[in-house]
Amino acid sequence: NGTGGNGEEGGDELITVGFAQTGSESGWRSANTESMKEAFSKENGFDLKFNAADNKQEAQIAAVRSFINQGVDAIVIAPITVDGWDDVLTEAKDAGIPVILEDRTVSASEDLYASWVGLDFEQEGKTAGEWAVENADGSNLVILEGTTGSSAALDRATGFGAAIEGSDITTLDSQTGDFTRDGGKKVMEGFLQKYGDDINLLFAHNDDMGLGALDAIKAAGLTPGKDITIVTIDAVKDGMTALANGEFNFIVECNPLLGEKAADLVKAVLAGEDVEKKTIVPDQSFTQEQAAEVLDSRPY
Ligand code: AHR
Repeated sequence: NGTGGNGEEGGDELITVGFAQTGSESGWRSANTESMKEAFSKENGFDLKFNAADNKQEAQIAAVRSFINQGVDAIVIAPITVDGWDDVLTEAKDAGIPVILEDRTVSASEDLYASWVGLDFEQEGKTAGEWAVENADGSNLVILEGTTGSSAALDRATGFGAAIEGSDITTLDSQTGDFTRDGGKKVMEGFLQKYGDDINLLFAHNDDMGLGALDAIKAAGLTPGKDITIVTIDAVKDGMTALANGEFNFIVECNPLLGEKAADLVKAVLAGEDVEKKTIVPDQSFTQEQAAEVLDSRPY
């Protein structure tokens, strides 16, 4: 393998990188995978081994183990859940293979990975919650949570909860829809059966679950964006379209374009350079009017 050889600087050797992706649960994930594949291309000096784990942590850990056994130069992980990484990260360290995390975080010791690049999920939740208090105080709220045990779901819940604390928003229910459209639809159907039109505010931890919920809301004879105020996170094309159309009311962005930064980190770590332990990529947020203005220029 390339043992850190830099394909860009004239050598023929490519840097072999194993990338353990979560799966393909959402539009955000597709955009993230594309960004990673583009950045870790042959033209950029990489030989990428890609694995998507269908949102199952055991499968993701097995993929990382297989990358270690293949003797790749570096491993990149988008960890499905926060816990459970200590053993396999220790194995990578013992094998002398640096690990870079992208997107979500882990609870394992920082000594077990070289660097992380991702988003401030807690701030995303806080921004969503602050908008809800300002624009829908006094509402009855239901929440569609992301994958249980993921840093994206945990931190967004923390940020949102802190922002609505002390407001007159009443939380009727909160359940996981696993970041998928199907999950969002099914859980929202259950909420509507149980609480009917008492619900007038929905916070979905991502656009896809909010988009799934739109079907359930319409099937119940309600108008999304009017009868139920909808706040989501991601700002992918379909979510921004729903926002511009008035079916969503507010979206906090979660930027999936992390590939270039992750590739730079891999090269720097293999070159023995000191790198930042954490890199946070900034997010924006959008109202309906702002979504209509930027919709055509969004890259994903
Ligand atoms: O970890 C980022 C989250 O994972 C995105 O918000 C969600 O859409 C994705 O599945």
